Amino acid sequence: MKTELIHIDMNHALAEQVAPWGAALRRGELVAFPTETVYGLGANGLDEAAVRKIYLAKGRPSDNPLILHVNGIAMLRTLVQKISPLEAKLIQAYWPGPLTLVFPRSAIVPDRVTGGGETVAVRAPAHPVAQALISAAGVPIAAPSANLSGRPSPCNAAAVLTDMDGRVAAILDGGACRIGLESTVAACEDNKITVYRPGAVTVEMLSQFAPTALDDALVTGKGIPKAPGMKYRHYAPKAPVYICLGTPERLTKFMKEHYEPDVGFLISAETARELPLSPHIYVWGERLNQEAMAAHLYDGLLYLDTQPVRKIYAEGTAAIGLGTAIMNRLNKAAGYHVVEVD
Ligand code: TXA
Ligand code: MG
Repeated sequence: MKTELIHIDMNHALAEQVAPWGAALRRGELVAFPTETVYGLGANGLDEAAVRKIYLAKGRPSDNPLILHVNGIAMLRTLVQKISPLEAKLIQAYWPGPLTLVFPRSAIVPDRVTGGGETVAVRAPAHPVAQALISAAGVPIAAPSANLSGRPSPCNAAAVLTDMDGRVAAILDGGACRIGLESTVAACEDNKITVYRPGAVTVEMLSQFAPTALDDALVTGKGIPKAPGMKYRHYAPKAPVYICLGTPERLTKFMKEHYEPDVGFLISAETARELPLSPHIYVWGERLNQEAMAAHLYDGLLYLDTQPVRKIYAEGTAAIGLGTAIMNRLNKAAGYHVVEVD
């Protein structure tokens, strides 16, 4: 299959530019597209055969269900049995945006989307290209992150091309993703919220609406996570990754002592200033700027994986707010290897 790379001009009418790709989705083809979180690998979410192609293109285990992307609440209603008052409040507050909610599914949702289960995950992306594409297709778009299974999620079209060249009809290039981490996945039950996957809509933000807790399996690392995708090894570069935690002074001292030319570093700008210049150092933001860290994490892991390094030290961040999602993904990349440098 020849993959077309389509540059989207954000200053011109999007409906016109995406119309052919909405039609391609309706025909059952795969189209990768930008969202505000990461790039998605899209298929017509109501077409069982099209959805099957997603699993083949990614090499994804078939028990891992997909998120359906909608352009608003009217499309959501066709996919679910009911919307509770709490769910309605969360939708009002955070849609369109990086919040995926898990609902009891309606009969039109194919088994391939839900992994055979009785629930369906739905979100309304905030990215204008994603919105235009869903409207052009006129159907919900099933879309996992547009990476090969196990690799970091792509946050720009070049990273999608690396993994998906020859596997999809087109990649719509809408620039870099603003957030850089996948959406929060959450479910409401008995007026409580459980976060299955932490993201940019944080536990703290959801707590304003109802008592909110992270899925136990994510906290303890034991038991089966409620989002099947969270049980898989993910994002890991070939070289082992070690997360370093401690006070800024101790972190800097540790990194200096462990600096070697064939060691990779994923560190703050502050720490990098204390080390020699090296192509094996990836700066992922100022120490307290978690937005920047989130936006650069996957790019950093992908970059360091192209470098001849034998191990990678990563500077951790506080697991509060957006830091919960950052540390969740970083821990997966590191296989939960943590070095306490205090
Ligand atoms: O930000 C995002 O959510 C991106 C963009 C493209 O929208 N998509 C994404 O999809 O990250 P994916 O397939 O890579 O991750 C979906 C996660 C998986 O962990 C999956 O197990 C979980 O959501 N999930 C999907 N449907 C579910 C369901 N019915 N119940 C529980 N977890 C579900
Ligand atoms: Mg994914």
